[in-house]
Amino acid sequence: MPEEYRPRRSCLAVPGSSQRFLDKARGLAADEVFLDLEDAVAPAAKETARRNVIAALNAGGWGGQLVAVRINDAATRWAYRDVAEVVAAAGRGLDAIILPKVTDPGHVAWLDLMLGQIEQDTGDEPGRIGIEAQIEDARGLAKADEIAATSPRLRALVFGPADFMASVGMRSLRVGAQPAGYVGSDAYHYPLLRILVAARAHGLAAIDGPYLVIDDLDGLAEAAASTAALGYDGKWVLHPGQIDVVNRAFSPGQDDYERAELILDAYRYYTSVEHRGAVMLGGEMIDEASRKLALVVAAKGRAAGLRRSQRFEAPVTTPSAEHAPFGESPGQPAGES
Ligand code: GLV
Ligand code: MG
Repeated sequence: MPEEYRPRRSCLAVPGSSQRFLDKARGLAADEVFLDLEDAVAPAAKETARRNVIAALNAGGWGGQLVAVRINDAATRWAYRDVAEVVAAAGRGLDAIILPKVTDPGHVAWLDLMLGQIEQDTGDEPGRIGIEAQIEDARGLAKADEIAATSPRLRALVFGPADFMASVGMRSLRVGAQPAGYVGSDAYHYPLLRILVAARAHGLAAIDGPYLVIDDLDGLAEAAASTAALGYDGKWVLHPGQIDVVNRAFSPGQDDYERAELILDAYRYYTSVEHRGAVMLGGEMIDEASRKLALVVAAKGRAAGLRRSQRFEAPVTTPSAEHAPFGESPGQPAGES
């Protein structure tokens, strides 16, 4: 988890074929907006959608959000023109390309090479445009680790539940919700964890896919809280009404955030000033592993705009405290600052 953590809590899908939705997407609270040329666009509307997306990127006004385009998958007739036309005409307004239905590392390698060719041609910064790879079928999942290792442009692996459910034969039409009849606790646990591990092994973000029952905000909150707890960075949203629920689910709670910042301060103090590697903080033992966990929570909290109200206060060192046995010199949160 990099200390400079770019939030992708909510990733809003906007169909490239709808000018109205493209216009409405600006200014929403989604961390990432992606303009879709793939499954939200009918085959007959692909060319128009591409033109709309180029115009929307060039018009700007996306604020500090990450802006991505989901192109058609590498095995379709549209993919090469999606990349060539969108990136050549509007690459500067683009942070990443989302590549769907990645079943093989070769798909990512193809996109990486094409982006490199276009950057040479346009003079744009080499390697700036990232790739988010959707893993959404059995073949892609089986190769998740190889896919995650393919290109330094990769920023995230994204689970695609709808296509995945179809690919493995899951007997349900409620995308993102638990399939009726399944007696385990989470039918998506295996693909979610496998994608998460592949992503983290290569320093990438892990993003969960959409929850299609738009008016079931409780179901969405539950699904989002579950993947957030597992370690995921964010989730797709298909409607502006889903954004707040998802942002909340992927932001740490204020208490956890405060605690994480205190752990980082305390650990820094004890390891650098007192040269001790494991100490007590408010009744809990903290060590190097605690620091790593705290880094994750603090980075996610800062990225979510949380502010701390407590500061760590180093204990006053007395001769007896200096020689106190291991674990008996608890630092304290200093309260409001
Ligand atoms: C998203 O692309 C999905 O298939 O769920
Ligand atoms: Mg899909």
